[in-house]
Amino acid sequence: MKGIILAGGTGSRLWPITLGNSKQLVPIYDKPMVYYPISTLMMAGIREVLVITTAEHAPLFRALLGDGAAWGMTFEFAVQESPDGLAQAFIIGEEFGAGDSMALALGDNIFHGAGFENAFPPVTNFDGGHIFAYPVPDPERYGVIEFDDSGTALSIEEKPEHPKSRFAIPGLYFFGPDVVEIAKSIKPSARGELEITSVSEHYMREGRLRVSVLDSGTMWFDTGTVDSMMDASEYVRAVERRTGARIACPEEIAWRQGWITTDQLAAIARPLEKSGYGSYLLGLVNH
Ligand code: DAU
Repeated sequence: MKGIILAGGTGSRLWPITLGNSKQLVPIYDKPMVYYPISTLMMAGIREVLVITTAEHAPLFRALLGDGAAWGMTFEFAVQESPDGLAQAFIIGEEFGAGDSMALALGDNIFHGAGFENAFPPVTNFDGGHIFAYPVPDPERYGVIEFDDSGTALSIEEKPEHPKSRFAIPGLYFFGPDVVEIAKSIKPSARGELEITSVSEHYMREGRLRVSVLDSGTMWFDTGTVDSMMDASEYVRAVERRTGARIACPEEIAWRQGWITTDQLAAIARPLEKSGYGSYLLGLVNH
């Protein structure tokens, strides 16, 4: 399975912060926002990732992430000319996917928690669709999924005025190789976007969609607004200061996954030593 990070869009809800910068490069406490969804894909075991951005911000992402080799990964980059919807990611990523299954992580979604680390589907021989559901007090802001008593998905709607359940669909999706054709077949919504909910709905109608409910042991943030960014930063700060561990530290994940050696980790850490982030990495090397 390959991964896509969707990190385009206008960031208009964060203006003026994003007038001269990409939303997904803005810090969430001690690291750029895009480190979080990259870490999510890494924890799922995905090493080949396509990062989709606006043309304007593409050089910034290339400068930050490089080709991925330092983290034992491969990064490729693609541009989305205009924000025509999340499902367009699979069409842009067709060549990159080359017939493999694909996971899509939205560039502004942050997950954390023990429950979450065990929630990933297997990433080899994957077919169908696998999405998540998370209970929220304001489901009308998200894609919403409704279940019957046995847990079978009944409906999926994008930002419904009258939500049929309190379960939002977070921005992490696993789809089989046919997702490209499905994305090509869906029609733009009333707001003119190729909706990711239409893709999930397609798999649901065919009886090929699995849904995992993330429980309260998992934190999920969509950092699309100033307040949700601040909430996420405060959460990360509190957890990191209290536990001494770092959330969404790609270098550490790569090292723990065995994708880079301790020597390679040390080589990354040394130039970053002046920051707490760098000294944390050196601490891993030394202990
Ligand atoms: O956060 C989860 C929600 O994300 C889901 O519950 C919804 O079903 C899904 O549609 C999406 O809703 P949002 O309103 O949060 O989507 P937003 O337009 O904020 O886009 C999500 C991210 O993707 C954001 O980082 C910007 C980027 N993006 C968005 C669009 C529409 C792109 O890169 N290209 C695009 O065309």
